[in-house]
Amino acid sequence: MKRRSFVKGSLTAAGAGVLGQLPREAVGQSAGSDRQTYRAWEVGPKGPFNTMRLVDRPLTPPPGGHVQVKVAASGIAGRDRAITRGWFLQDKKPERIPLSEGVGVVTAVAPGVSRVEVGDRVTSIHFPRWVSGDWTPANYVADVGNTVDGWLTEIATLSQYGLVKVPASVDDATAATLSGSALTAWQALYHVAKVKSGDTVLSLGTGGVSSWGIILAKAAGARVVLTSSSDEKLEMMREKYGVDITVNYRKTPEWGQRVTELTGGKGANIVLENVGWPTLDQSLQAASVNATVVMIGTGPRPKKILSMPDFYIKNVTMKAISNGSRAMMEELVRAIDAVGMKALIAREFAFEEAVAALEFMDQSSHVGKVIIRNS
Ligand SMILES: NC(=O)c1ccc[n+]([C@@H]2O[C@H](COP(=O)([O-])OP(=O)(O)OC[C@H]3O[C@@H](n4cnc5c(N)ncnc54)[C@H](OP(=O)(O)O)[C@@H]3O)[C@@H](O)[C@H]2O)c1
Repeated sequence: MKRRSFVKGSLTAAGAGVLGQLPREAVGQSAGSDRQTYRAWEVGPKGPFNTMRLVDRPLTPPPGGHVQVKVAASGIAGRDRAITRGWFLQDKKPERIPLSEGVGVVTAVAPGVSRVEVGDRVTSIHFPRWVSGDWTPANYVADVGNTVDGWLTEIATLSQYGLVKVPASVDDATAATLSGSALTAWQALYHVAKVKSGDTVLSLGTGGVSSWGIILAKAAGARVVLTSSSDEKLEMMREKYGVDITVNYRKTPEWGQRVTELTGGKGANIVLENVGWPTLDQSLQAASVNATVVMIGTGPRPKKILSMPDFYIKNVTMKAISNGSRAMMEELVRAIDAVGMKALIAREFAFEEAVAALEFMDQSSHVGKVIIRNS
């Protein structure tokens, strides 16, 4: 592969010879494209999706510790609807490139980058500082697609520390959904709840996190209980993924009690709380004695104090999580490679259709993931 150094100016043949004798880490690499600019979506001013703007940016060398990736596909997560409108956690600068999930091929690396090289196919975790070990809120300083630029671009600039190589067996569509939805479900099931064969896992809704929760729970041999607003969506998940028990939460507002009945009075010993405060009472109703409830969804706090039914009597464990570390992502990628799991893709949009893709997500008619293909 043709390589061009990012050390001062263009290379002459003689210069290339000298640099060729230096260690690769000292000179950086690039794929040798003559490209001067790239297109990127920015969140734009605070407001509806159509305040997002497609801009041309100059292609400059990646800063220290960073790489550039030619994006093949990116995934939209629930929070991206808030980020792109400018009201997730804090205001964004209008130039922020959104989306936390994606996959692509490394086209340039800064001098000193050692974890990947030009030509590697990679994805990135949300929090490049969270390599392994316990969570710390300081990780939010670098949150891809939120506090630093993300994947809704032709060329993404990413920290080398967040990158994970993607094996050829994992297709672009699947890889574009891993760092948000799949990694969250992985941490919830395999690290927090330690899912095993015969467990009963309750997953709320049919969105991105829940669809991966179902796929990963089934891979462990668990029985899966699913709630949704739509009988059609529930039927599809029964047929496609062998979901065992389904309850329509619109038709059955006391669905927690219904889940208990349908599980022989026991309830679910693992709950993926993919909605948050608004559904917590019903989730606790559906939980078994000694259940683990993993708090994932960031839904709004209710005005009324929650009743938390049987929280103490059942000795329930509750744990909130934030996505996952790079070490967890490496495990997840190995598992997907080994088992051959694929993401459930609701719909694909072209790069130029990003606003339409977010509007589609907003309708909540999707089952699984909405992704954007760059080519
Ligand atoms: N903590 C973390 O690390 C983390 C990571 C990723 C996402 N999240 C959060 O997790 C939530 C889900 O994210 P996502 O990307 O999966 O979003 P999504 O793809 O938009 O899915 C949301 C789904 O939630 C379901 N839902 C809404 N209200 C419900 C209710 N009352 N009961 C049951 N299901 C309900 C709907 O399913 P139906 O259409 O089937 O009714 C909807 O499709 C968001 O709040 C997001 O911010 C947190």
